[in-house]
Amino acid sequence: MKVKVLIITALALAMSAVSFGQNSFTVDAGDGGTGNLVLEPCELGGGMPFMEVLKERKSNRDFQPAEIESRLLSGLLWAANGINRPGENKRTAPSSRNSQEIDIYVLTNNGVYLYMPEDQQVKKVRSGDSRKTVIKSDKEMNAPIVLLLVANYDKMKGYETADRDFYAPLDCGYVSQNIYLYCASEHLRTVAMGNIDRVAAAKILGLKNGKVMLAHPVSMD
Ligand SMILES: Cc1cc2nc3c(=O)[nH]c(=O)nc-3n(C[C@H](O)[C@H](O)[C@H](O)COP(=O)(O)O)c2cc1C
Repeated sequence: MKVKVLIITALALAMSAVSFGQNSFTVDAGDGGTGNLVLEPCELGGGMPFMEVLKERKSNRDFQPAEIESRLLSGLLWAANGINRPGENKRTAPSSRNSQEIDIYVLTNNGVYLYMPEDQQVKKVRSGDSRKTVIKSDKEMNAPIVLLLVANYDKMKGYETADRDFYAPLDCGYVSQNIYLYCASEHLRTVAMGNIDRVAAAKILGLKNGKVMLAHPVSMD
């Protein structure tokens, strides 16, 4: 009986892993129907040698629509601004006074998700395809995902306005560079985009105290 239960559980797990890998954004990840997705643990041994990554780092504006593999999405978000020192709750990107104010939203063809580094999860914020509203040019619309980097001013409460406005873009730049470097290392395409509709993006996110900074469309090569 115990063996039977074990086999059924193993089969169920294998099937959910397969469907998660095939279609990272349309399946329910088994979280009670919230639409949140649990990301895969990062493969820390992968990638190119660092000097080669720098050699390959570039902006790419030709995107293709194939879905990003879920292992790559997991690695991308972790590299961008994940927790690399869990004991201290610190991130892959530095931030002024360790504010950790740069939130990453993932826009797909069926929803907007917020990266939650503490849980290595993306939480569904709303349904629908918002990519076209934020990205003004048609070309980048081919990318299956757009990462939106947002400065969350609630996490910068002790700052004078001038300091906040100085440090938030700097902190955002490190996250953007992490995205570029991960993409170079894994043969993904991306470009940092400042030319986006910030007002529309803030509305979509329901942003009350913060600033939409940069977008990064990302696609497979
Ligand atoms: C803050 C920032 C904003 C940018 N905004 C845009 C943009 O709106 N559209 C675009 O096509 N490229 C944008 N870029 C990409 C730059 O044009 C690109 O980095 C530059 O041409 C150098 O090319 P490289 O990244 O391949 O070295 C932006 C880059 C940065 C750093």
